[in-house]
Amino acid sequence: MNPNPDLRPVLTVQPLGWCVRVAPGQSLVEAARAAGVRLRSSCRNGTCRACLCRLVAGEVDYRIAWPGITVEERLGGWVLPCVAVPRGDVAIDATADVVPTPPNLR
Ligand code: FES
Repeated sequence: MNPNPDLRPVLTVQPLGWCVRVAPGQSLVEAARAAGVRLRSSCRNGTCRACLCRLVAGEVDYRIAWPGITVEERLGGWVLPCVAVPRGDVAIDATADVVPTPPNLR
């Protein structure tokens, strides 16, 4: 028996291969940010499409009823990670970088 099971889904950000855990209710953008990974985004409410990227593995649900993505795009493997929550482990192909460490203010 695993003494420390972590059942949170894993988000893998390709092509860099960075892996982060997604807490319950977190969007993919939020989970990445919490781990220090910045995904391209702007509105973060599913309307501007700045975060649009490929879902290359797994499945997601959306926090909102009408995210700014067409059925055809969804079927074609596109996703809006700012409002997408994973059903399990997922992987996306997205532009990402590391969040700069804020200055140490005393
Ligand atoms: S950041 Fe605007 S739709 Fe995702």
